[in-house]
Amino acid sequence: MKNIAIPNTELTSSNIIMGCMRINTLSLKEIDTLVKTALDQGINFFDHANVYGGGECETLFSKAVGLTPAFREKLIIQSKCGIRKEETVYYDFSKENILESTDAILHRLNTDYLDVLLLHRPDTLVEPEEVAEAFEILHTSGKVKYFGVSNSNPNQIELLKKYVSRPIIFNQLQYSVVHTPLIDQGIAVNMAIDQSVDRAGQTLDYCRLNEITIQAWSPFQKGFFEGPFFQHPEYGDLTNALMKYGEKYGLDVTGAAVAWILRHPANMQVVLGTTKPERIIAAGKGSGVPMSRQEWYNIYQTAGNMIP
Ligand SMILES: NC(=O)c1ccc[n+]([C@@H]2O[C@H](COP(=O)([O-])OP(=O)(O)OC[C@H]3O[C@@H](n4cnc5c(N)ncnc54)[C@H](OP(=O)(O)O)[C@@H]3O)[C@@H](O)[C@H]2O)c1
Repeated sequence: MKNIAIPNTELTSSNIIMGCMRINTLSLKEIDTLVKTALDQGINFFDHANVYGGGECETLFSKAVGLTPAFREKLIIQSKCGIRKEETVYYDFSKENILESTDAILHRLNTDYLDVLLLHRPDTLVEPEEVAEAFEILHTSGKVKYFGVSNSNPNQIELLKKYVSRPIIFNQLQYSVVHTPLIDQGIAVNMAIDQSVDRAGQTLDYCRLNEITIQAWSPFQKGFFEGPFFQHPEYGDLTNALMKYGEKYGLDVTGAAVAWILRHPANMQVVLGTTKPERIIAAGKGSGVPMSRQEWYNIYQTAGNMIP
């Protein structure tokens, strides 16, 4: 497993993260096995959010793994707040909500601190002074070590940075070989094709310039949770290409899809969502694979993109 030093922190993390959004479908014993498998592969980073399973994923995780103080220190635990699911879904970056959500997360995880807290999805009603106050309270009280955002564009981050004194360390974004708005516009600048439409606000370049580590969520999903792309007829050629190139590096299609994401020199992390230990192992093999430029671009093209 390749480890990366996260810029502007003391964190050294695996470049693969175990995402915990789907673990509420598992028994405590299965969660324990999944976490142990991840740790055995060298994965030391675990991603949560207060809305996953309505909070149940955090509770089950702590119950399953038994977070003793010594064990807790071995893990990097991240959670997110800012999405509220009540009668309707809405976003809330108010100071009160950030503080209350974090306390509830810590209670469910049965831990004194989070290594990382992310703001889950941009709240257009954000008052950045309130975020700054909340982050300061959480940091000085020892409840949160580092902060980041998710699904955010450069100006949203700049707005926060104008007020927030703690550095923004991470931006968690959807990115995979079948979801590439982060890179499409940069590959087809100034062309009159759909690929040239800037959907991501040049967030990749901004994050690289500002040493914000990108965490790629849904590495295998077609669209917005339409299921893994591997067996989808639209992606037959892509799956074959991944199998062909993967074979050269001893990877199955899962590992090759991970290797493709991590080949980008932006030092991203991949957030896996699998609930199967064998898929954690297969994906983990894609962690430090030296895929060539030609292979990487060919896979991108086979996913349906133009190389102008
Ligand atoms: N920041 C955000 O807004 C945001 C949004 C969504 C997710 N996330 C984070 O990202 C993590 C990953 O998201 P995700 O779960 O959507 O990612 P994913 O890893 O792309 O998808 C996982 C799903 O695909 C299935 N799958 C994977 N490989 C498969 C294969 N070879 N064959 C058949 N099924 C396969 C898994 O089934 P099995 O369990 O059976 O393997 C699981 O249901 C989440 O856990 C969460 O931590 C963040």
